[in-house]
Amino acid sequence: MAHIKCIGILTSGGDAPGMNAAIRAVTRTAIYNNLTVKGIMRGYHGLITNEIVDFQSKSVSNIIQKGGTILKTARSKEFLTVEGRALAYKNMKDNGIDALVVIGGDGSLTGAQIFAQEYDIPIVGLPGTIDNDLSGTDATIGYDTALNTIMEAVDKLHDTATSHERLFFVEVMGNTAGYLALNGAIAAGAEAAIIPEMETEVDQLKQLISQGFRKSKNSAIVLVAENKATGGAMGMAERIKREYPQYDARITILGHLQRGGSPTAIDRILASRMGASAIKALLEGQRNVMIGIQNGQMTYVPFAKAISRTKTINRDNIELVKILSI
Ligand code: F6P
Repeated sequence: MAHIKCIGILTSGGDAPGMNAAIRAVTRTAIYNNLTVKGIMRGYHGLITNEIVDFQSKSVSNIIQKGGTILKTARSKEFLTVEGRALAYKNMKDNGIDALVVIGGDGSLTGAQIFAQEYDIPIVGLPGTIDNDLSGTDATIGYDTALNTIMEAVDKLHDTATSHERLFFVEVMGNTAGYLALNGAIAAGAEAAIIPEMETEVDQLKQLISQGFRKSKNSAIVLVAENKATGGAMGMAERIKREYPQYDARITILGHLQRGGSPTAIDRILASRMGASAIKALLEGQRNVMIGIQNGQMTYVPFAKAISRTKTINRDNIELVKILSI
């Protein structure tokens, strides 16, 4: 295996708070180990258009506290094509890059897996997504910050929901997963969470209404995971109007608010540990793995597993929301 001298780093897909902390950790750990670092702008797009800049230690100064990503991000359509990846490989080689660190979610790591297989390049991924939907890791970079944002927003909605004795559907992100909705509901003390993982098992809205919400009060906040099939919070409100007109329901869609903001300490520490682990992994000869965290320990998760969508939601937490809302 060729000796690694230069690392390219990119962020791809939806941004997540803590990506900057990860960029900083990758860059500084690489430099500490006498490697050179190149920052690739706008994800895979920048690899294709050759937007590649030299990174020094000072390139990542004063960014640990910032949301977003200094490298910018994109969802590159061209990288999905054989021609696009050929150009990306050429630019990578022309810039002397021997290995890549890719920070992103499932789409980005799927791209990394294909690219690594096609060109036999060492690539290590970091799970950067607010959705927490990658397998083989207990948490992803950005998830904790997004959860805190959701919690703070729902805390505020509680005031008006209680005053007006209303039912609120609060839509949160999550792609196809319900982690933000379920754990957001626990953190904010919401009455229920409607999540995609339960969709085929039970009519969650019907179940909720038949339970009678919280017995001790007339308002309720229900966190709804975004869901194209059911229409998310909007879909729930439409059903209420049609099927349960006795309720005065309102909706709030938190949207991209959830992707912004200064990362929490938990995300900064996670991103720093994972960033350092990515360089360690590459120097140990690891490739095609994502860095994960399991029971507090850094782990190497093969890309195939990371993107396999085999992570299961904690059923005890579904029960917990129910118990705590009596
Ligand atoms: O994967 C992160 C995420 O924020 C998802 O939760 C959401 O479904 C999606 O990205 C939104 O993407 P965009 O910013 O392209 O609208």
